[in-house]
Amino acid sequence: MHCHSRPAPPAAARCCARRPHLAIRAQQVAGQGKVYIDPTEKEVAAFAPATVANLGPGFDWMGCAVEGEGDVVTARVLPDRPGQVVIDSIQGDGGRLSLDAPKNCVGIAAIETLKLLGAAPSCGVALTLQKGLPLGSGLGSSAASAAAAAWAVNSLFGCPLPKEQLIYAGLASEAAVSGYHADNVAPALLGGFCLIRSCEPLDLQRLAFAGELWFVLVNPRFEAPTAEMRAVLPKEVPMKQVINNCAMGGSLVAGILLGDAALIGKALNSDAIVEPVRGPLIPGFGAVKEAALAAGAFGCTISGAGPTAVAIVSDPEVGQRVQAAMVAAFKAAGGLEVNSAKVVRLDNEGAKRV
Ligand code: HSE
Repeated sequence: MHCHSRPAPPAAARCCARRPHLAIRAQQVAGQGKVYIDPTEKEVAAFAPATVANLGPGFDWMGCAVEGEGDVVTARVLPDRPGQVVIDSIQGDGGRLSLDAPKNCVGIAAIETLKLLGAAPSCGVALTLQKGLPLGSGLGSSAASAAAAAWAVNSLFGCPLPKEQLIYAGLASEAAVSGYHADNVAPALLGGFCLIRSCEPLDLQRLAFAGELWFVLVNPRFEAPTAEMRAVLPKEVPMKQVINNCAMGGSLVAGILLGDAALIGKALNSDAIVEPVRGPLIPGFGAVKEAALAAGAFGCTISGAGPTAVAIVSDPEVGQRVQAAMVAAFKAAGGLEVNSAKVVRLDNEGAKRV
């Protein structure tokens, strides 16, 4: 996938031509032509996976989706409230997320998706969110919610928009909660590895990976809000560190394209800019990294803004040993119990109906 342009408002005629089943119709309203889009279903549920972004030197420009838990959003037609978005309920957030749609990432993603449809929705949308991912975990929790919401709403109207275009809806949502970066929301929608060249205008590349690759993800019981973890980033960076991260970022891409898990691990392990300032804020992270490498991981770093630690292996049995070592190190060196620890593969599908 290679996507360069801003989202051209999808003209109704074009949508109809491409997808003849779509219920788009023109109506005369007070003497003016207005184009409406009707839902094609009453209710749709969509799932979006966890994501790992950053992958070491891939800060804000490289992320990938991983199998396992994710968030599920159900979108239901509200027949008599055209264009409105409401949130009916949220489960799994401990009551911490707002039910006010414009203040919630699923609400924002749904509102933006309706705008992207290119025609006025003839109904409103009611959402429910089931959080499978912990908040502030470094596993792309907000992006999974936004991606699932965008895909559920798009599906409610017969999927007039490609996933690439829905990244804009996800970006609007991410901007409100963690910053204007697509390294989580692009892979949450598209699956696989996504290299983000630019968000404005959106320019990204989905990279295929053919090889044995497993992610060891250990999420300790500690919260690292993205906004706080971004506040510690350096404003200026010495040239030596820039050169290192460019070389390692290139190696990361090479490792993906070559299907070389060892090279991905080595690159991911070698961030000289972000990990050195964020690592000390996560209790025990330094020891966790050492333990992962000693147990056979090719590399280990902070997943996203943390506190989850991610290690790379090419063999799930090695992954189990690495996982045990990381869990023990979080406890011994950081005094942290873990919420979850798992060895998972790349998710190549991204957001999907469930
Ligand atoms: N790239 C982002 C960061 C991901 O590390 O701050 C977390 O939202």
